[in-house]
Amino acid sequence: MRLDKLLGQAGYGSRNQVKKLIRSHQVRVDGQLATADNLNVDPSLQTITISGKKLSYSPDVYYILNKPNGVVSAVRDDQHQTVIDLVDAPDRKSGLYPVGRLDRDTEGLVLITNNGPLGFRLLHPKHHVDKTYYVEVNDQIHDDAPAFFENGIRFLDGTICKPAKLDIISSSPEVSCAHITISEGKFHQVKKMFLAYGVKVTYLKRITFGPFQLGDLTIGDYRELTEEEKEGLKEFLG
Ligand code: URA
Repeated sequence: MRLDKLLGQAGYGSRNQVKKLIRSHQVRVDGQLATADNLNVDPSLQTITISGKKLSYSPDVYYILNKPNGVVSAVRDDQHQTVIDLVDAPDRKSGLYPVGRLDRDTEGLVLITNNGPLGFRLLHPKHHVDKTYYVEVNDQIHDDAPAFFENGIRFLDGTICKPAKLDIISSSPEVSCAHITISEGKFHQVKKMFLAYGVKVTYLKRITFGPFQLGDLTIGDYRELTEEEKEGLKEFLG
């Protein structure tokens, strides 16, 4: 990683502040003065000091977890197991938090990281990050439903949703299944959208979040993002 980027991520200030630090000869790599901002360094292999103080840097971590029903999307909770409790102790780096929330009875993909700004950026409405859910409901979903969801549903309290994409998988009077893709994250949004259509959600699972896919991850398990998936985060990391 570039030295200036590393120091920025480690909290040594803006790009300009970091450049000044380097140019004022306060930064050393393995004892040698660093003279270039763009020097390639690796803090896991080299000792980097700033004004004689060793840089302590642990890279950000990113996990995809398949949340089970009954677990809450929170860092801690007095009553229920949290998604962070499902991360093994050696992987439970400080500052881990879930990006966004699923209801306690919703299953599926939760992104967990200790990168503070990322969550804010991924959830910011300007990014319109798509989320796809697999849904089961207690009644029929008719052929008119995709247009209903596409037109922007209005809740009883007046809230208007952005257009959503509905793909019906199967429909019967007892249970119907569909995929729905939304680009917002309103409270209980999917359940309320189906209620507005006239049916009740009986099972909900998030299967994608932006560029990430749940795939065949076992329920309750988690995995680190691949290098390719981390590349996909760059547009949100600024
Ligand atoms: N919409 C819901 O209603 N619940 C969730 O957990 C996620 C989206």
